[in-house]
Amino acid sequence: MKKTLVISSVIMYLLSSCTSSTPACDIPEGISYNNGISTIIKENCFNCHSPEKYKVKGGRIKLYDEKALKKLGEDGTLMGALNHKRGYVAMPYKKGVKLDSCVRVVLQSWVDGGCK
Ligand code: HEC
Repeated sequence: MKKTLVISSVIMYLLSSCTSSTPACDIPEGISYNNGISTIIKENCFNCHSPEKYKVKGGRIKLYDEKALKKLGEDGTLMGALNHKRGYVAMPYKKGVKLDSCVRVVLQSWVDGGCK
């Protein structure tokens, strides 16, 4: 009885350590502002950063504006905030919550490619 418990705990542990390893992310080809990025921002950030709400809920940060978003991408603020780096206000502005890691990988690849 006790032995089975130990064995099943070991199996559970192995299973969980297996699934918790980071999966490879699917980065779509030709990612650009119009192809993927604006949708990610709309879906994840417009609760506060939409044209209607940014003044009240989004700290006046215009993520809906292509030029403004590209600037935040280029100067490191976007990924700094999303990766909860020191010196940035952690986004999406909910304690301890980060955007899905693969979504961040896609955004990072957009930044690395020069915010096209
Ligand atoms: C619940 C509301 C809310 C959501 C959701 C939200 N933000 Fe923000 N965001 C804010 C507020 C408020 C500020 C201004 C914070 C401050 O200056 O203290 C801000 C500031 C920022 C900044 C500037 C950070 C800095 O360090 O200067 C960036 C970049 C940003 N948000 C990106 C995002 C992105 C990308 C998302 C979506 C993944 C997002 N935000 C979702 C409310 C939100």
